[in-house]
Amino acid sequence: MGSELIYRGSENQPSSDSYSPKPVKPWASVTRTIHYLLREQRLLFVFVGIAIATLIFTVFPTSPAPYVAPHSRFTTLIPDSITYFPIETQQKFSSAHRLGFGSANPTSKIPLGLKRKGLRIVVTGGAGFVGSHLVDRLIARGDSVIVVDNFFTGRKQNVMHHFGNPNFELIRHDVVEPLLLEVDQIYHLACPASPVHYKFNPVKTIKTNVVGTLNMLGLAKRVGARFLLTSTSEVYGDPLQHPQKETYWGNVNPIGVRSCYDEGKRTAETLTMDYHRGAGVEVRIARIFNTYGPRMCIDDGRVVSNFVAQALRKEPLTVYGDGKQTRSFQYVSDLVEGLMRLMEGEHIGPFNLGNPGEFTMLELAEVVQETIDPNAKIEFRPNTEDDPHKRKPDISRAKELLGWEPMVSLRKGLPLMVSDFRQRIFGDHKEGSNTNNASSS
Ligand SMILES: NC(=O)c1ccc[n+]([C@@H]2O[C@H](COP(=O)([O-])OP(=O)(O)OC[C@H]3O[C@@H](n4cnc5c(N)ncnc54)[C@H](O)[C@@H]3O)[C@@H](O)[C@H]2O)c1
Repeated sequence: MGSELIYRGSENQPSSDSYSPKPVKPWASVTRTIHYLLREQRLLFVFVGIAIATLIFTVFPTSPAPYVAPHSRFTTLIPDSITYFPIETQQKFSSAHRLGFGSANPTSKIPLGLKRKGLRIVVTGGAGFVGSHLVDRLIARGDSVIVVDNFFTGRKQNVMHHFGNPNFELIRHDVVEPLLLEVDQIYHLACPASPVHYKFNPVKTIKTNVVGTLNMLGLAKRVGARFLLTSTSEVYGDPLQHPQKETYWGNVNPIGVRSCYDEGKRTAETLTMDYHRGAGVEVRIARIFNTYGPRMCIDDGRVVSNFVAQALRKEPLTVYGDGKQTRSFQYVSDLVEGLMRLMEGEHIGPFNLGNPGEFTMLELAEVVQETIDPNAKIEFRPNTEDDPHKRKPDISRAKELLGWEPMVSLRKGLPLMVSDFRQRIFGDHKEGSNTNNASSS
C-alpha cells in the first residue's frame, strides 16, 4: 500500500529494461523561432519597428557633441557662459581639456538615446564663495544640484540666480546634524575657510570638520555616492618643505589658534581615507591653496579680499608682519575645474589644487595698486599667530594625473574680482562696511 502511494506510474512504464533517448532534431529551435515569427504577422511588426528606429536616428542623428573625458565615467560639458569665468579661459579650458585628457573627437556624434544623464549632486557649503561657483558649473552641465548650507558664511545671493530652476534645490541645514538624500556625488565644502570666521567659534569649526564630515561620509556610504573632501593647504601647517608636495606630512601646531581648522581638516582627511579603506566608499581629496574671485566675503579678512576692499574704499592696504611671507593665489574658475576633474577622474588623491605662482604680500599689494589705485598707501601691522611664512603648491601630481593646471594669472583674475567687489561695496551699502584684521588663509 505504502509503495503505491509513493509510486503510481509502474503500470505505464515500458516493459523493456533498456533506456533509449528520443532522437535530437538539430534544427528544432531555429524552425520553432521561424514558425513563431511567421505566425500572426509578427514578422511584419519586427520590420515596422526597425523602420521606426531607423527613421528616428536619421532625423535626429546627434545630441550636442559634449566633451568626454577619457578618465571619466561621465561626460563633462563646458558651459558657454559662466558668470565671472573669462571667455578666454573657457576657450583655453575647452581646448586644454581636449589636450590634457586626449581623445575627445569634436566630430563624434552621440546618438540621442545615449545622451548623458544628469547626476544628482549634493554640494555642502554650496552657498559660499567656492561652492556657489561649483554649483554654477554643475547646473550648466545639466546636473541636479542640492545645496546644503547653514549660511554661516554663505549667502543666498550667491545662488539666487538658480531659484526657480527645477534642477536646483537649497536646504538650510547644518552638516553637524545627519541628513538623508538620494544622490550620486557629494562635494563636501561646508566649513568656514577664512581665519576670521573659523576662529570665531573654534569648537564649532572642529565639529563641522569632524562631525560634519562623518555625517556626509555616512551619507555617501548609505547611498553609494562618490565623496569629495575639500581639504586645505593648511594641513601642511608652517611647512618645512618648499614647495609642498602631497607626500609631505606637514608641520602643524596641534594646540594653536588655527588648529581647529588645520587639525580639523587633517582629521577630515583621516576619516575620508578610513571610510574608503573600511567601508569601500569612493572618495576624493583636494588640498586647496589660497583662492580668490568674485563672491568672496568682503569682510572675511583674507588677504586678497582685504586689499581689494581697502583699495576701493581709499583706505591703506594693511600688510601683516614684514610683508615678505609668500602665498600663491588661484582664481576660482581654475579651482572649480580642478575639483570637477578630480571628482570625475579615477584617482583618490590627495591632490594639491593651487596656483604655483608665488607672491610676497608686498608684491600682491603692488598688483592691487596697479589694478585699482596707484596711490593706495601700505600700512604695516604686527603679524598674527601661527601665520605660515611660505606656501606654494607643487602641482605636478594634478598635472600628470588630472591633466589640470591653473590658467588664470593674478593680473587677469583680479580685475574680475574688483568689478564684483566694486558693485557690492558701492551698489549695495548693506554689505561689508568694514574690513577686519587677519592674515591670509
Ligand atoms: N577659499 C580658499 O582659499 C580655500 C582654501 C583652502 C580650503 N578651502 C576649503 O574650501 C571650502 C569652501 O571654502 P570657501 O572659500 O568657499 O568658504 P566659504 O566660507 O565662503 O564657504 C563655506 C560654506 O560652508 C557653509 N558652512 C559652514 N559651516 C557649515 C555647517 N556646519 N553646515 C552647513 N554649512 C556650513 C557656509 O555657510 C558657507 O556657505 C571649505 O571647506 C574650505 O576649507 C578654501
